[in-house]
Amino acid sequence: MNVLVIGGGAREHAICEAVKRSDAELYSIMKNLNPGIRRIARDFHLHSETDADSVVKYAISKNIELAIIGPEAPEEAGVTDALQREGIYVASPSKEAAEIETNKEFMRSLMEKYCIPGSLRSRAFSDAKEAREFIEMMGGEVAVKPVGLTGGKGVRVAGDHFRDIEEAARYAEEVISKKIGGEARVLIEEKAVGEEFTIQAFCDGSTIVPTPAVQDHKRLLPGDEGPNTGGMGSYSDASGILPFMDRNDYEEAVSVLQRIVEAMKSEGRDYRGVIYGQFMLTGEGPKVIEINARWGDPEAMNILPLLKTDFVDICLAMVEGEISSKRVDFEKKSTVCKYVVPEGYGTKPMAGERIYVDEAAIQKEGGKLFYASVNEMDGNIYTTTSRSLAVVGIADRIGEAERICERCMEHVRGEHIFIRHDIGKEELIQKRIDHMSMLR
Ligand code: AMP
Ligand code: GLY
Repeated sequence: MNVLVIGGGAREHAICEAVKRSDAELYSIMKNLNPGIRRIARDFHLHSETDADSVVKYAISKNIELAIIGPEAPEEAGVTDALQREGIYVASPSKEAAEIETNKEFMRSLMEKYCIPGSLRSRAFSDAKEAREFIEMMGGEVAVKPVGLTGGKGVRVAGDHFRDIEEAARYAEEVISKKIGGEARVLIEEKAVGEEFTIQAFCDGSTIVPTPAVQDHKRLLPGDEGPNTGGMGSYSDASGILPFMDRNDYEEAVSVLQRIVEAMKSEGRDYRGVIYGQFMLTGEGPKVIEINARWGDPEAMNILPLLKTDFVDICLAMVEGEISSKRVDFEKKSTVCKYVVPEGYGTKPMAGERIYVDEAAIQKEGGKLFYASVNEMDGNIYTTTSRSLAVVGIADRIGEAERICERCMEHVRGEHIFIRHDIGKEELIQKRIDHMSMLR
């Protein structure tokens, strides 16, 4: 079967590897030359991923039967719908279904309308004065978010990014006046306090099949300091849940995702593809922080390498509405994923810097390497302004997976690279366990 993967990041590299394990012929459309994808694809097209006409033209020319979209932007641009109109299967949500991610206000009002548990108090505003009044009413304990997409970087939270009502109101005003996220509209949400976790699930329009929980690290610096990023690294545990949560928390979060999918169906927005729930585990249980219409990046890299079931078969079951009759199995292993990013990532990234990667040595250490937003020129690898590459360690326990990941990192060199070494280390995980027991 000819399968097209759209996107050139580390998440897409992981998706491409899963497609290859299914014995399919892999084709790629990416805007940067990802060396990992280039090597395993039968053919690739370096092009804008949001240009629906060109994607369709390429897919037809290569007799593509199934397409998988990595990032949210092509979904928002209607690439799914355009491919479907040509009779091509797409294991990713349509533009309308992807609104669960691309329009945060829609997500919040859907949860409210269908009385889905785990929602947070929130309101959207186009008027800065009204936004300020709401922030005042909430005592400043809020998250201020552009309604549209900002790649995870437009959100600011009380205590983390601003100190008081005045700063929150000023940022809300800036979101409106500068149309951050593409629209002159801001969402103000109640601030949730707790520990974050992600659940990704396969969805066929009616039913979801969840995958193991993962914890991402959004903040740039060790100890969860600094600005929000696309995600600096993540870990998962062999048990399928995380050290600071119990099975009930996991089941509750899965049931929230299931209810969202059912609500989408009632709204005539059939959701087919991977659905991603970002939750805050609070003293009152899991609360929804955001829903994404795709795999998480880095979270896809924790889950896809563990998948024992044929990935392309799962994709077909999602498209054909048959996921409930499918058994999906994972290796019972723990994973730790860390990103290598260019120095200055999140503020002033140093693009165009050379990175040296000893792939054979990483393989020998037992780690998995996924290339992200790098460019390959004359056999050399250079940074861009985004995350460069990720390494995943896999073992029975998180500690061992972390050590494998770190041993592999010794084989990635560059004068201007940065890694959050604390991810997956016992000390940080213990801090999360202690935080949670204090809140319960
Ligand atoms: P998002 O792009 O919506 O995932 O937001 C980025 C990060 O901001 C999240 O991963 C959380 O750490 C934080 N955040 C977003 N919304 C809230 C909220 N309502 N309460 C507390 N933290 C939040
Ligand atoms: N890891 C967060 C995201 O993919 O949005």
